[in-house]
Amino acid sequence: MEVIRVEGGHPVTGTVTVEGAKNSALKLMAATILAPGINTLTNVPNISDVHIMGKVLKELGASIEVVDPHVLRIDTSKVDSWETPYSLVAQMRASTAVLGPLLARFGKAVVAMPGGCNIGARKIDMHILGLEALGVEFDVDHGDIHASAPDGLKGSSVSLDFASVGATENLIMASVHAQGTTVIDNAAREPEIVDLANMLNEMGADIQGAGSPVIEIHGVGELHPVTHAVVGDRIEAGTFAAIGAMVGQPLTVRGFEPIHLGLVLKKFEQMGIAVERGDREITVSRTGKIMPVDVQTLPFPGFPTDMQAQTMCLLSVAKGTCVVTENVFESRFMFASELQRMGSNIVIQGHHAVVHGVEGLSGAEVRSPDLRGGAALVMAGLVADGITTVSDIHHIDRGYERFVEKLQALGAHIRRVRIPDEELGFF
Ligand code: UD1
Repeated sequence: MEVIRVEGGHPVTGTVTVEGAKNSALKLMAATILAPGINTLTNVPNISDVHIMGKVLKELGASIEVVDPHVLRIDTSKVDSWETPYSLVAQMRASTAVLGPLLARFGKAVVAMPGGCNIGARKIDMHILGLEALGVEFDVDHGDIHASAPDGLKGSSVSLDFASVGATENLIMASVHAQGTTVIDNAAREPEIVDLANMLNEMGADIQGAGSPVIEIHGVGELHPVTHAVVGDRIEAGTFAAIGAMVGQPLTVRGFEPIHLGLVLKKFEQMGIAVERGDREITVSRTGKIMPVDVQTLPFPGFPTDMQAQTMCLLSVAKGTCVVTENVFESRFMFASELQRMGSNIVIQGHHAVVHGVEGLSGAEVRSPDLRGGAALVMAGLVADGITTVSDIHHIDRGYERFVEKLQALGAHIRRVRIPDEELGFF
């Protein structure tokens, strides 16, 4: 079993470049189903979630050429299956992103029901209700969702109860060929939605309003393959910005649009962190103590839930008390109990976490509870007293490319270590 071992107290400074956004790349890969032929995606992160989406596409009949680790040539001309097995959906819930494109291309899809997830129930009822409005019929059988549109997809008006990223993306992709116009009200506004709509429009789709709460999709005929660069990863960038803020020395983060981290950077500034914004880069630094600031997660342009753990980590050593409220996912505070092992003082009350800042953290053996929580534990280890060992690092590999190597290049004393299971204290 591999763990990440980090020794706290060393300088972490310099420049780091982020990859393309995981949450965009996965949906862009699914969207290539809509344009039969050879599509080229550049700036693709080389992470395990992308590898799983590659397997999903191959299962459907696509072939993928890895031109270099960040450039994928995806040939979807021979896609001839519309079934995605549980073995893949169970590994990555985002596999359900193929539902919309398969319905648009074949008028049918069979996708395994995603199981529970370690950051809450993560239902897909809004995907289903929205697609039903477009004329899709659903049947759940032996754990699989069978979707079909016997009379074809018809444009319709859909109002989402909550601005769900996944539901918005599936609805956009399902409706590109639908008869007439589809209007999605209370649509998610994340930059990854804009990236998806941009690529689909480059393919010949007619999508207006992406990035606003109302998206209009006018159904068109065939789409054509394109070459498209994945938008920079605002969450990887935010994670490194948080690391810079935690350690204190200047850290420049390149390869993304600072505006995509709008509220995160404003909150960091309120905490006493200096943020210099440049062209596709920022530099963070800190001289004084971190000041406590209340934070609540909300859909974009609100504070991203994917930055909650890293921000709580910062606040755990703030000069005072504040409240972090999680409004997007239930059960997304597992990270806090691991951080307690490192000496933090956090009290969870429902979807609120009361964070009492402590003087410092102490190195400990901790488990990565999920992707962002895992990165935040590594971040805690960089300033903790002594050695921190983070296990279950497959979560981190899902979304961060060369995380350890990038931190080493910034000066961190960190490495991946292969150790026998029984040597870990908690077995
Ligand atoms: C995506 C991102 C994830 C991010 C999240 C919110 C990907 C691969 N993942 O996840 O990193 O944290 O957006 O920014 O892009 N919900 C329902 N019914 C539905 C759909 C969602 O109740 O049909 C609920 C979910 O359980 C959750 C909330 O809505 O509580 C938000 O989910 P959603 O925006 O859909 O997140 P994902 O697309 O799964």
